Amino acid sequence: MEALWDYGPLGSLMKNNIKKEWLKTFVQSRDGVVLIDTPVIMHPKTWEASGHLQNFMDPLVECKNCHARFRADFLKEKKCSQCGKNEFTKAQNFNLMFKTFLGPVEDAAHLAYLRPETAQSMFTDFDLVRETMRLKIPFGIAQIGHAFRNEITTGNFTFRLREFEQAEIEYFVKPGEDEKAFEEWVDDWENFIIKLGIKKENLRRYEHKKEDLSHYSKRTIDIEYKYPFGWAELTGIANRTNYDLSQHAKFSQKELNYFDEETKERYVPFVIEPSLGIDRLLLAILCDSYEEIKGGRTETTQSVKEEEIVLRLNKKIAPIFVAVLPLVKNKEPITKKAREVYEKLKPHFACQNDETGSIGKRYRRQDEIGTPFCITIDFDTLEKNDVTLRDRDTMKQERVKIEELMGTLKEKL
Ligand code: GAP
Repeated sequence: MEALWDYGPLGSLMKNNIKKEWLKTFVQSRDGVVLIDTPVIMHPKTWEASGHLQNFMDPLVECKNCHARFRADFLKEKKCSQCGKNEFTKAQNFNLMFKTFLGPVEDAAHLAYLRPETAQSMFTDFDLVRETMRLKIPFGIAQIGHAFRNEITTGNFTFRLREFEQAEIEYFVKPGEDEKAFEEWVDDWENFIIKLGIKKENLRRYEHKKEDLSHYSKRTIDIEYKYPFGWAELTGIANRTNYDLSQHAKFSQKELNYFDEETKERYVPFVIEPSLGIDRLLLAILCDSYEEIKGGRTETTQSVKEEEIVLRLNKKIAPIFVAVLPLVKNKEPITKKAREVYEKLKPHFACQNDETGSIGKRYRRQDEIGTPFCITIDFDTLEKNDVTLRDRDTMKQERVKIEELMGTLKEKL
């Protein structure tokens, strides 16, 4: 189905590694940012309060000839991509939220929506989380989770999806301190993306014009990535002011504010929201790490001289960190030793034992999926109890004693 994708075994591991790094950077290593995990279906009133029911729209037009439907602002040369004609209906607003029903009765009273952003639970849970975790402003509530949008125009692989994952933080600050916090979050967010391996020259910032801001935003900066199909939004940081808390307070008729014990002030906090699409980041990382080497690289252990692909993934997010390769297959003492080394490393690293194909082919295979290190078990291993450790990027090989392998790899990670 269009714009709904499966991740296979390697993609799932890589996606999980990205999320782990995000959690480590923004929740574990930071004071005052806590994590929640909430359902994808929320009370319909939530979306009335948040403004999504009224405002979360894209302009939809229909080709008068073939009835294909398009997002009006994405129409190239004002021509229908299906039939080539250029007559369209007037643009109508199309709400992007997916509808469903709660329980066995399908009527208006049981209508519900799949969340189009993870953010709203951070506002509806604001008081509970603040109280139970004894949080003082400034503090943040973070969440990673699935979001759903019935996008009119999809495409570009996993760039625009109908189901995707977001990693968002709602960072609550005192009004007046929002502008400084906004600037800091833009820098922190961009640094995280660069730390994961995206080249700085492939990123740029785009400031939204006042007239294009979302209904809740006072200021928004997108960080764009230079995808193969052009510059496009990778992530965004918004100053949502006190819009959401005020709206939820109004609709729930329950106050949502903050009392500062020190200054004895009571106020509705402002919110800075850095928001990241995990799938878009994964796609950008793949594009940025991918290298085709015409004619292959020179390596003593291989004679293959065709085009090689190296995926220069950051070590922390590569799906496999280290591969164990017995030099020859079906040779009992060597394959047995390889399995022993593999079993030893497996609880500590994402590890693969690969016995099939020539050693050159196996190196190429691991380079292609971005494995930073390969360990080769050869005849010397049986005598000297050491292995060859090969680096994906430099192809440098070093001999390492098996008893020192764990320490050496941990250092490299
Ligand atoms: N809570 C704010 C919010 O949702 P957004 O700019 O609509 O803001 C945030 O979305 C991020 O979510 C985007 O920067 C992008 O990374 C990701 N995203 C949005 N729509 C997407 C889609 N259809 N497919 C994949 N990722 C998407």
